[in-house]
Amino acid sequence: MSSLAQDAKALMERFRSMPTEKIGSFYNSMDPEAYDEMVRMVNCTESDHILAKILEQPGLDASSEIYDVGCGTGLMGRLLHEQGFREIDGMDASEQFVSEATRRGHYRSCESFYLGERMLPRERLGRYDLVTAHGVWVPNHMPAKAITDCVNALKEGGYLITAMRSYLWKKGEKHGYRDMVDMMIEQGKLQLLETGHFMRGVEGGDAMFAPQESIYLVARRVPTPDRGELPKG
Ligand SMILES: C[S@@+](CC[C@H](N)C(=O)[O-])C[C@H]1O[C@@H](n2cnc3c(N)ncnc32)[C@H](O)[C@@H]1O
Repeated sequence: MSSLAQDAKALMERFRSMPTEKIGSFYNSMDPEAYDEMVRMVNCTESDHILAKILEQPGLDASSEIYDVGCGTGLMGRLLHEQGFREIDGMDASEQFVSEATRRGHYRSCESFYLGERMLPRERLGRYDLVTAHGVWVPNHMPAKAITDCVNALKEGGYLITAMRSYLWKKGEKHGYRDMVDMMIEQGKLQLLETGHFMRGVEGGDAMFAPQESIYLVARRVPTPDRGELPKG
């Protein structure tokens, strides 16, 4: 086994004792290349499904403004950049991952803060045609409140396209992701356009990375009634 693969396997082990707070520091201590290798090793298929759903949306094109929340080392930024998207901003709790994502050059801007803990920066409000998030709806990661920030970052009619392990997408589940989305739908702020299931994971590791079902979500911010029609698409 190569030393990169060994480092990636060692990182997998560290998820068994993931901290309940300061998740940014947890990721700060990881070598970005070993982290990327670990993501590859655990058969994390969610990014492929998220990307496929993004590419299906008729209102999204190379000029679309995109916000990748919890961007990590920049996996989604790279995938989107390869598809011709250029107006991509990122954010993540880990300063080290933000530096790495910036260095790789796929983001227009990238900054470090905790989503869901304070007000979304004013310049992010109502700005994006698409907000995407990969690997962030996980225990000890983003709180359900971050979903409202994602929606607040969207233009009216903008898309939220993300995915999570299916066991977390349950009414009454303690992290509250589904309940938050349901509440925003009831409030008339969000419309859930599509969901679909797929498999992820590998045998032989931590339960977190075991083969299991995930779900992708395609949602759209609902325009306020007095402001008229959905933009583009
Ligand atoms: C499993 S990694 C996924 C990273 C990246 N999206 C990818 O596809 O590889 C989870 C990321 O979410 C970030 N994160 C977790 N909670 C966060 C929060 N509340 N605000 C901002 N970033 C957060 C972590 O720092 C970490 O980089």
